Amino acid sequence: MIVLPGLVECHTHSAFAGSRANEFLMRLSGASYEEITAQGGGILSTVNAVRTSSFDELVILLKPRIEHFISQGITVLEIKSGYGLSFYDEIKLLQVINYFKMQSPIEIIPTFLGAHAFPPEYKNDHEQYIDLLINELLPYIIKNNLAFTVDAFCERSAFSPEEVEMIFSKAKKLGYKLKLHTDQFNKIGGLNIARKYKVNSVDHLEVIDDNDIQQFAKSEIVAVLLPGVSFFLDYNYAPARKLIDNDAIVALSTDYNPGSSNISNLHLIMSIAAIKMKMTAEEIISAVTINSAKALCLSEKTGSIEFGKQADFAIFKAKEYSEIIYTMGTNLNSMTIKKGKIIYNTLESK
Ligand code: NIG
Ligand code: FE
Repeated sequence: MIVLPGLVECHTHSAFAGSRANEFLMRLSGASYEEITAQGGGILSTVNAVRTSSFDELVILLKPRIEHFISQGITVLEIKSGYGLSFYDEIKLLQVINYFKMQSPIEIIPTFLGAHAFPPEYKNDHEQYIDLLINELLPYIIKNNLAFTVDAFCERSAFSPEEVEMIFSKAKKLGYKLKLHTDQFNKIGGLNIARKYKVNSVDHLEVIDDNDIQQFAKSEIVAVLLPGVSFFLDYNYAPARKLIDNDAIVALSTDYNPGSSNISNLHLIMSIAAIKMKMTAEEIISAVTINSAKALCLSEKTGSIEFGKQADFAIFKAKEYSEIIYTMGTNLNSMTIKKGKIIYNTLESK
């Protein structure tokens, strides 16, 4: 057997309703993800589905997704809001995520992503929506312990660097930790804001350039790469090799969501990272354990097997760790251990 530190999944949008299979088919016949977004599909179609779902319905949808992550050896799971985009619906999503934070045997880390897209009712009034985020949602969420991290999507179709800055400046004052979706399709300056506000991670980076790679190499900011998105959208892969060769801290995640990465299998992401981004087995294992723990500010207590840390482990039916990456599409994890307790076990003799 191979014992690894419990895997840390540091970037998911698992709390969603509905399906975007129709958009998947549209993309297969030539439409791009950004074109679908421009036509009012994309994130906003999932927002519709979430708004018409109750707390209980969302709980029923999320439960098996969390169980699937646990079966893979994941012991820490980040889940973002971002498909409600109104006061009521963002709080509803965060309450669903927090329900599992209380119930689940693994650590669930809720992240507030109110700045995911502009909802239809504020399409022509960005200022009003940012006002709702800054003056109502941010203070309410931290006061009620619903999330301690704020994320935003800096992109032409979403929030400009100036808009992200308004949100980050208030979030930082309130004591939130920060992370940013940036440089996914267009370079519009998100990385400058990320550096200025000392975020914990910058996520995506499919279009990061050499200059920014140099800058990040020197920083403590984790580069969270999401090759499942590149595979699912048949798009550029982030330059993992260049980032790592320049000493950047690289983590990997599924980005599980219904639009850009309907992939909830972190082992598959590990294989894609090897094949398409040329990461070594050791780099990949670090990227789903200690580095992803660092992206969530948890590397002091989990992400490696060390005295003084939590006893979070994943035990694989394999002779060498490379088999976990090589055996695509089969779950070799047979036991998940959280804080010393067996929480998932497929072994016959116990
Ligand atoms: O990380 N980039 C923005 N957000 C998600 C996609 C969300 C969606 O399409 O529903 C992402 O790729
Ligand atoms: Fe994402």
